[in-house]
Amino acid sequence: RKKVTVGSLRAMHKRGEPITMLTAHDFPSAHVADAAGMDMILVGDSLAMVALGMEDTNEVTLEEMLLHCRSVARATKAAFTIGDLPMGSYEISPAQALETAIRFIKEGRVQGVKLEGGKEMAPTIERITAAGIPVLGHVGLTPQRQNALGGFRVQGKTVASATKVLEDALAVQKAGCFAVVVEAVPADVAAIITRKLSIPTIGIGAGNGCAGQVLVQIDMTGNFPPGRFLPKFVKKYGDVWSESLRAIETYRDEVKSRQYPGPEHTYPISKEELEAFTE
Ligand code: KIV
Ligand code: NA
Repeated sequence: RKKVTVGSLRAMHKRGEPITMLTAHDFPSAHVADAAGMDMILVGDSLAMVALGMEDTNEVTLEEMLLHCRSVARATKAAFTIGDLPMGSYEISPAQALETAIRFIKEGRVQGVKLEGGKEMAPTIERITAAGIPVLGHVGLTPQRQNALGGFRVQGKTVASATKVLEDALAVQKAGCFAVVVEAVPADVAAIITRKLSIPTIGIGAGNGCAGQVLVQIDMTGNFPPGRFLPKFVKKYGDVWSESLRAIETYRDEVKSRQYPGPEHTYPISKEELEAFTE
């Protein structure tokens, strides 16, 4: 498979082919996403919760994000990789954001960065893209701002709110983003925004009218214990948790009953050597 680039993503968008994006947080999760033919792999700050067990995405640090980006980058051969700038690493100034973005490229070994926000982030996006670093925007529901948004709420449900999401998307496009994530927005609103933009929209909880889709890997593969809350937009395509549980429980039972390891898992020694050793 050929390496996906900003150019091939643009071509994909031009011919109306949906762009596929999935999160990964370490070597194995990136390896499988790349093998499955994902166009883009996002090292999302959602790894705070799904990989590190934190309360929310705001707890993860820049150093932690860089460590995870490096492990994802080592496994990714073809997909275009994006690192998510964590809360606190880019809001202070465009200079701070550029410094952080450079660390993602040099140390995280990803090919682009994502940052949350609309109009207010335009100067920051301009600064980063001027340095030759591709930026993926993120509008609509921006989880890093959950405290200001009053929780994880669908955005764009009123004329005023839909207008804000549209204006934010247009602003990040104008500032130089090569694509924009649109999160938790009514499908009809996201479809209109997609038509008004020239860059691709990557939807999550934003319906089928976006130019591409993104999901959190452990959600869509079902790699979590029963009873966990899942947002409405998540489709569970697999049951990785049950398969892992079954395998580990079987291993436990076979060790307890001395069925494992069997002769086929065991190194032999010649009779003569064994006799000599036993004496
Ligand atoms: O952190 C993340 O995984 C994300 C995607 C869900 C867009 O930001
Ligand atoms: Na994120």
